[in-house]
Amino acid sequence: MASDATGGGAFDVVAWSGRVRALAAERDAVILAHNYQVPEIQDVAHHVGDSLALSRIAASAPQSTIVFCGVHFMAETAKILSPDKTVIIPDERAGCSLADTITADQLRAWKAEHPGAVVVSYVNTTAAVKAETDICCTSSNAVEVVRSIPADTEILFCPDQFLGAHVQRVTGRRNMHIWMGECHVHAGINGQDLKAMVAAEPDAELFVHPECGCATSAMYLASEGIVPRERTRILSTGGMLDAARTTTAVKVLVATETGMLHQLRRANTRTIFEPVNRAAVCKYMKMITPERLENALRTGNDVVDVPRDIADRARTSVERMIAIGTPSPVGE
Ligand code: 13P
Ligand code: SF4
Repeated sequence: MASDATGGGAFDVVAWSGRVRALAAERDAVILAHNYQVPEIQDVAHHVGDSLALSRIAASAPQSTIVFCGVHFMAETAKILSPDKTVIIPDERAGCSLADTITADQLRAWKAEHPGAVVVSYVNTTAAVKAETDICCTSSNAVEVVRSIPADTEILFCPDQFLGAHVQRVTGRRNMHIWMGECHVHAGINGQDLKAMVAAEPDAELFVHPECGCATSAMYLASEGIVPRERTRILSTGGMLDAARTTTAVKVLVATETGMLHQLRRANTRTIFEPVNRAAVCKYMKMITPERLENALRTGNDVVDVPRDIADRARTSVERMIAIGTPSPVGE
Protein backbone atom coordinates (compact mmCIF):
# COMPACT_ATOMS: atom_id res chain seq x y z
CA MET A 1 0.00 0.00 0.00
CA ALA A 2 1.21 3.49 -0.73
CA SER A 3 0.29 6.76 0.89
CA ASP A 4 -3.24 7.99 0.29
CA ALA A 5 -2.94 9.81 -3.02
CA THR A 6 -6.63 10.00 -3.82
CA GLY A 7 -7.81 11.97 -0.82
CA GLY A 8 -9.97 8.99 0.19
CA GLY A 9 -9.06 5.83 2.15
CA ALA A 10 -6.04 3.58 1.72
CA PHE A 11 -4.66 3.68 -1.79
CA ASP A 12 -3.32 0.49 -3.39
CA VAL A 13 -0.99 1.92 -6.02
CA VAL A 14 -0.21 -1.45 -7.63
CA ALA A 15 -3.87 -2.31 -8.17
CA TRP A 16 -4.60 1.22 -9.37
CA SER A 17 -1.71 1.13 -11.87
CA GLY A 18 -2.96 -2.19 -13.24
CA ARG A 19 -6.46 -0.77 -13.74
CA VAL A 20 -5.15 2.39 -15.37
CA ARG A 21 -2.93 0.52 -17.84
CA ALA A 22 -5.76 -1.92 -18.69
CA LEU A 23 -8.24 0.92 -19.28
CA ALA A 24 -5.69 2.73 -21.45
CA ALA A 25 -5.20 -0.39 -23.58
CA GLU A 26 -8.99 -0.80 -24.00
CA ARG A 27 -9.24 2.79 -25.17
CA ASP A 28 -6.15 2.62 -27.43
CA ALA A 29 -4.78 5.49 -25.35
CA VAL A 30 -1.27 6.68 -24.61
CA ILE A 31 -0.79 8.38 -21.22
CA LEU A 32 1.59 11.36 -21.23
CA ALA A 33 2.70 12.99 -17.98
CA HIS A 34 4.61 16.20 -17.38
CA ASN A 35 7.56 16.20 -14.98
CA TYR A 36 5.47 18.22 -12.44
CA GLN A 37 2.77 15.56 -12.03
CA VAL A 38 2.41 13.65 -8.73
CA PRO A 39 4.77 10.63 -8.53
CA GLU A 40 2.02 7.99 -8.98
CA ILE A 41 0.97 9.54 -12.29
CA GLN A 42 4.55 9.89 -13.51
CA ASP A 43 5.11 6.22 -12.70
CA VAL A 44 1.99 4.93 -14.48
CA ALA A 45 2.37 7.08 -17.62
CA HIS A 46 3.70 5.62 -20.86
CA HIS A 47 5.89 8.72 -21.29
CA VAL A 48 7.09 11.40 -18.84
CA GLY A 49 8.86 14.55 -20.01
CA ASP A 50 9.06 18.28 -20.50
CA SER A 51 6.73 20.31 -22.72
CA LEU A 52 8.83 19.87 -25.84
CA ALA A 53 9.37 16.13 -25.49
CA LEU A 54 5.67 15.54 -24.77
CA SER A 55 4.62 17.67 -27.78
CA ARG A 56 6.88 15.60 -29.99
CA ILE A 57 5.50 12.34 -28.63
CA ALA A 58 1.91 13.62 -29.02
CA ALA A 59 2.62 14.43 -32.68
CA SER A 60 3.88 10.95 -33.50
CA ALA A 61 2.02 8.60 -31.12
CA PRO A 62 0.31 5.76 -33.01
CA GLN A 63 -2.61 5.52 -30.53
CA SER A 64 -5.99 7.08 -31.42
CA THR A 65 -6.35 8.73 -27.98
CA ILE A 66 -3.94 10.87 -25.96
CA VAL A 67 -4.57 11.23 -22.23
CA PHE A 68 -2.62 14.30 -21.17
CA CYS A 69 -1.62 14.50 -17.51
CA GLY A 70 -0.46 18.08 -17.44
CA VAL A 71 -2.14 21.44 -17.83
CA HIS A 72 -4.69 22.59 -20.39
CA PHE A 73 -2.36 24.38 -22.85
CA MET A 74 -0.29 21.18 -23.11
CA ALA A 75 -3.36 19.12 -24.02
CA GLU A 76 -4.41 21.82 -26.50
CA THR A 77 -0.97 21.67 -28.11
CA ALA A 78 -1.39 17.91 -28.54
CA LYS A 79 -4.80 18.49 -30.16
CA ILE A 80 -3.37 21.14 -32.51
CA LEU A 81 -0.68 18.69 -33.62
CA SER A 82 -3.03 15.71 -33.90
CA PRO A 83 -6.48 17.12 -34.79
CA ASP A 84 -7.90 13.71 -35.70
CA LYS A 85 -7.01 12.15 -32.35
CA THR A 86 -9.12 12.29 -29.22
CA VAL A 87 -7.29 14.27 -26.54
CA ILE A 88 -8.40 13.90 -22.94
CA ILE A 89 -7.27 15.81 -19.84
CA PRO A 90 -8.39 14.32 -16.51
CA ASP A 91 -9.50 17.76 -15.26
CA GLU A 92 -10.10 20.60 -17.72
CA ARG A 93 -9.80 23.16 -14.91
CA ALA A 94 -6.03 22.53 -14.84
CA GLY A 95 -5.01 25.92 -16.25
CA CYS A 96 -1.78 27.91 -16.11
CA SER A 97 -1.29 31.32 -14.50
CA LEU A 98 1.42 32.14 -17.04
CA ALA A 99 -0.78 31.32 -20.06
CA ASP A 100 -3.41 33.61 -18.51
CA THR A 101 -1.09 36.64 -18.65
CA ILE A 102 -1.70 37.30 -22.36
CA THR A 103 -4.85 37.08 -24.50
CA ALA A 104 -5.12 36.94 -28.29
CA ASP A 105 -6.57 40.49 -28.28
CA GLN A 106 -3.60 41.80 -26.28
CA LEU A 107 -1.17 40.08 -28.63
CA ARG A 108 -2.94 41.52 -31.71
CA ALA A 109 -2.68 45.01 -30.21
CA TRP A 110 1.05 44.50 -29.44
CA LYS A 111 1.68 43.27 -33.00
CA ALA A 112 -0.06 46.36 -34.39
CA GLU A 113 2.50 48.50 -32.51
CA HIS A 114 5.40 46.55 -34.11
CA PRO A 115 4.55 45.79 -37.74
CA GLY A 116 7.00 43.32 -39.30
CA ALA A 117 8.11 41.85 -35.94
CA VAL A 118 8.29 38.07 -35.55
CA VAL A 119 6.18 36.77 -32.66
CA VAL A 120 7.79 34.08 -30.50
CA SER A 121 5.39 32.64 -27.93
CA TYR A 122 6.27 30.28 -25.17
CA VAL A 123 4.24 27.08 -25.42
CA ASN A 124 2.54 28.14 -22.14
CA THR A 125 -0.13 30.08 -24.08
CA THR A 126 -3.68 29.40 -25.22
CA ALA A 127 -4.42 28.04 -28.69
CA ALA A 128 -5.87 31.47 -29.62
CA VAL A 129 -2.52 33.13 -28.78
CA LYS A 130 -0.63 30.45 -30.71
CA ALA A 131 -2.85 31.24 -33.73
CA GLU A 132 -1.41 34.81 -33.63
CA THR A 133 2.17 33.52 -33.26
CA ASP A 134 4.90 32.93 -35.87
CA ILE A 135 6.89 30.41 -33.88
CA CYS A 136 6.38 28.80 -30.49
CA CYS A 137 9.16 27.69 -28.17
CA THR A 138 9.59 25.85 -24.91
CA SER A 139 12.22 26.39 -22.24
CA SER A 140 14.21 23.60 -23.97
CA ASN A 141 14.63 25.38 -27.29
CA ALA A 142 13.85 29.09 -26.72
CA VAL A 143 17.46 30.14 -27.37
CA GLU A 144 17.63 28.15 -30.62
CA VAL A 145 14.27 29.50 -31.77
CA VAL A 146 15.39 33.11 -31.24
CA ARG A 147 18.72 32.40 -32.96
CA SER A 148 16.81 31.02 -35.98
CA ILE A 149 15.33 34.51 -36.63
CA PRO A 150 17.42 36.91 -38.78
CA ALA A 151 19.40 39.29 -36.55
CA ASP A 152 17.87 42.45 -38.05
CA THR A 153 14.27 41.30 -37.46
CA GLU A 154 12.42 42.64 -34.44
CA ILE A 155 11.07 39.99 -32.06
CA LEU A 156 8.05 40.08 -29.76
CA PHE A 157 8.63 37.46 -27.06
CA CYS A 158 5.74 36.44 -24.81
CA PRO A 159 4.56 35.83 -22.19
CA ASP A 160 7.31 34.94 -19.66
CA GLN A 161 9.56 37.84 -18.64
CA PHE A 162 12.15 35.68 -16.86
CA LEU A 163 12.58 33.23 -19.73
CA GLY A 164 12.69 36.26 -22.08
CA ALA A 165 15.43 37.91 -19.99
CA HIS A 166 17.38 34.65 -19.95
CA VAL A 167 17.14 34.24 -23.74
CA GLN A 168 18.16 37.85 -24.26
CA ARG A 169 21.19 37.41 -22.02
CA VAL A 170 22.31 34.21 -23.77
CA THR A 171 21.73 35.47 -27.34
CA GLY A 172 22.73 39.10 -26.76
CA ARG A 173 19.66 40.04 -28.84
CA ARG A 174 18.83 43.75 -28.52
CA ASN A 175 15.78 44.05 -30.83
CA MET A 176 13.63 41.77 -28.68
CA HIS A 177 10.60 43.08 -26.79
CA ILE A 178 9.50 41.02 -23.81
CA TRP A 179 5.97 40.66 -22.41
CA MET A 180 5.90 41.14 -18.64
CA GLY A 181 4.07 37.89 -17.78
CA GLU A 182 5.15 35.43 -15.13
CA CYS A 183 4.25 32.08 -13.58
CA HIS A 184 3.23 32.57 -9.96
CA VAL A 185 4.99 29.35 -8.91
CA HIS A 186 8.35 30.14 -10.50
CA ALA A 187 8.25 33.87 -9.77
CA GLY A 188 7.83 32.84 -6.12
CA ILE A 189 11.27 31.20 -6.17
CA ASN A 190 13.13 34.44 -5.71
CA GLY A 191 16.70 35.63 -5.44
CA GLN A 192 16.48 35.86 -1.64
CA ASP A 193 15.61 32.15 -1.32
CA LEU A 194 18.41 31.29 -3.66
CA LYS A 195 21.03 33.41 -1.89
CA ALA A 196 20.11 31.91 1.48
CA MET A 197 20.36 28.35 0.12
CA VAL A 198 23.64 29.01 -1.66
CA ALA A 199 25.12 30.51 1.52
CA ALA A 200 24.04 27.46 3.52
CA GLU A 201 25.24 24.96 0.87
CA PRO A 202 28.40 26.42 -0.73
CA ASP A 203 29.39 23.14 -2.43
CA ALA A 204 26.05 22.34 -4.03
CA GLU A 205 25.24 22.58 -7.74
CA LEU A 206 22.27 24.73 -8.78
CA PHE A 207 19.63 23.70 -11.33
CA VAL A 208 17.40 26.69 -12.12
CA HIS A 209 14.38 26.71 -14.44
CA PRO A 210 14.48 29.86 -16.62
CA GLU A 211 10.92 30.81 -15.61
CA CYS A 212 12.13 31.40 -12.04
CA GLY A 213 12.32 34.88 -10.58
CA CYS A 214 15.77 33.80 -9.40
CA ALA A 215 17.12 32.89 -12.87
CA THR A 216 18.62 36.35 -13.32
CA SER A 217 19.83 36.32 -9.75
CA ALA A 218 21.50 32.91 -10.29
CA MET A 219 23.44 34.28 -13.25
CA TYR A 220 24.36 37.38 -11.20
CA LEU A 221 25.65 35.20 -8.33
CA ALA A 222 27.66 33.19 -10.86
CA SER A 223 29.11 36.25 -12.58
CA GLU A 224 30.07 37.71 -9.17
CA GLY A 225 31.79 34.44 -8.25
CA ILE A 226 29.42 33.92 -5.27
CA VAL A 227 28.47 30.57 -6.81
CA PRO A 228 30.90 28.99 -9.28
CA ARG A 229 29.70 29.46 -12.86
CA GLU A 230 30.29 25.78 -13.70
CA ARG A 231 27.92 24.75 -10.90
CA THR A 232 25.06 27.08 -11.90
CA ARG A 233 22.88 25.72 -14.67
CA ILE A 234 19.76 27.26 -16.21
CA LEU A 235 17.79 24.28 -17.50
CA SER A 236 14.38 23.22 -18.77
CA THR A 237 12.82 20.36 -16.82
CA GLY A 238 14.09 17.91 -19.48
CA GLY A 239 17.53 19.50 -19.31
CA MET A 240 17.57 19.02 -15.53
CA LEU A 241 17.01 15.34 -16.01
CA ASP A 242 19.88 15.04 -18.50
CA ALA A 243 22.14 16.94 -16.10
CA ALA A 244 21.05 14.79 -13.13
CA ARG A 245 22.20 11.64 -14.93
CA THR A 246 25.76 12.90 -15.27
CA THR A 247 26.36 15.07 -12.21
CA THR A 248 28.87 13.95 -9.61
CA ALA A 249 27.77 16.59 -7.07
CA VAL A 250 26.89 15.42 -3.57
CA LYS A 251 23.98 17.86 -3.49
CA VAL A 252 21.96 19.74 -6.11
CA LEU A 253 19.63 22.62 -5.22
CA VAL A 254 16.65 22.62 -7.57
CA ALA A 255 14.73 25.79 -8.42
CA THR A 256 11.51 24.68 -10.09
CA GLU A 257 8.16 23.08 -9.27
CA THR A 258 8.77 20.35 -6.71
CA GLY A 259 7.19 17.56 -8.83
CA MET A 260 10.49 17.55 -10.73
CA LEU A 261 12.31 16.00 -7.77
CA HIS A 262 10.71 12.60 -8.39
CA GLN A 263 12.37 12.11 -11.79
CA LEU A 264 15.68 13.62 -10.61
CA ARG A 265 15.87 11.26 -7.63
CA ARG A 266 15.00 8.29 -9.82
CA ALA A 267 17.64 9.24 -12.38
CA ASN A 268 20.44 9.56 -9.82
CA THR A 269 20.29 7.92 -6.40
CA ARG A 270 23.82 9.01 -5.38
CA THR A 271 23.12 12.75 -5.35
CA ILE A 272 20.81 14.57 -2.91
CA PHE A 273 18.29 16.77 -4.76
CA GLU A 274 16.75 19.51 -2.62
CA PRO A 275 14.19 22.16 -3.58
CA VAL A 276 15.16 25.83 -3.27
CA ASN A 277 11.57 26.49 -2.22
CA ARG A 278 9.44 23.64 -0.86
CA ALA A 279 6.31 25.69 -1.41
CA ALA A 280 6.87 25.83 -5.19
CA VAL A 281 3.89 23.63 -6.00
CA CYS A 282 1.69 24.20 -9.07
CA LYS A 283 -1.90 23.71 -7.93
CA TYR A 284 -2.98 23.28 -11.56
CA MET A 285 -0.59 20.40 -12.19
CA LYS A 286 -1.78 18.80 -8.95
CA MET A 287 -5.43 18.87 -10.10
CA ILE A 288 -4.59 15.73 -12.05
CA THR A 289 -5.00 13.15 -9.30
CA PRO A 290 -4.78 9.35 -9.60
CA GLU A 291 -8.53 9.14 -9.03
CA ARG A 292 -9.26 11.65 -11.82
CA LEU A 293 -6.92 9.87 -14.23
CA GLU A 294 -8.72 6.57 -13.68
CA ASN A 295 -12.07 8.30 -14.01
CA ALA A 296 -11.00 9.97 -17.27
CA LEU A 297 -10.03 6.61 -18.72
CA ARG A 298 -13.43 5.15 -17.72
CA THR A 299 -15.61 8.04 -18.91
CA GLY A 300 -13.56 9.65 -21.70
CA ASN A 301 -13.78 13.07 -19.96
CA ASP A 302 -12.65 15.86 -20.21
CA VAL A 303 -12.28 16.02 -23.99
CA VAL A 304 -10.05 18.86 -25.25
CA ASP A 305 -11.19 20.53 -28.44
CA VAL A 306 -9.67 23.43 -30.34
CA PRO A 307 -11.86 25.11 -32.99
CA ARG A 308 -10.63 24.05 -36.45
CA ASP A 309 -9.83 27.57 -37.70
CA ILE A 310 -7.76 28.36 -34.58
CA ALA A 311 -6.00 24.96 -34.67
CA ASP A 312 -5.18 25.39 -38.37
CA ARG A 313 -3.66 28.85 -37.74
CA ALA A 314 -1.79 27.70 -34.62
CA ARG A 315 -0.34 24.52 -36.17
CA THR A 316 2.46 26.15 -38.18
CA SER A 317 3.90 27.90 -35.11
CA VAL A 318 3.78 24.68 -33.07
CA GLU A 319 5.27 22.57 -35.88
CA ARG A 320 8.14 25.05 -36.17
CA MET A 321 8.69 24.67 -32.42
CA ILE A 322 8.97 20.88 -32.49
CA ALA A 323 11.31 21.03 -35.50
CA ILE A 324 13.87 23.25 -33.73
CA GLY A 325 16.42 22.05 -31.19
CA THR A 326 16.84 18.91 -29.20
CA PRO A 327 15.30 18.36 -25.76
CA SER A 328 18.46 19.56 -24.08
CA PRO A 329 19.56 22.38 -21.75
CA VAL A 330 18.59 25.94 -22.68
CA GLY A 331 21.99 27.32 -21.70
CA GLU A 332 24.47 26.78 -18.95
P1 13P B 1 9.11 22.73 -19.34
O1 13P B 1 8.97 23.29 -20.71
O2 13P B 1 10.50 22.85 -18.81
O3 13P B 1 8.56 21.36 -19.29
O4 13P B 1 8.23 23.64 -18.35
C1 13P B 1 6.86 23.75 -18.52
C2 13P B 1 6.23 24.56 -17.48
O5 13P B 1 5.04 24.71 -17.38
C3 13P B 1 7.10 25.22 -16.54
O6 13P B 1 6.35 25.72 -15.51
FE1 SF4 C 1 1.86 27.24 -15.57
FE2 SF4 C 1 3.57 27.86 -13.66
FE3 SF4 C 1 2.04 25.73 -13.38
FE4 SF4 C 1 4.05 25.73 -15.19
S1 SF4 C 1 4.25 25.82 -12.96
S2 SF4 C 1 1.97 25.00 -15.51
S3 SF4 C 1 3.99 27.85 -15.87
S4 SF4 C 1 1.33 27.84 -13.47
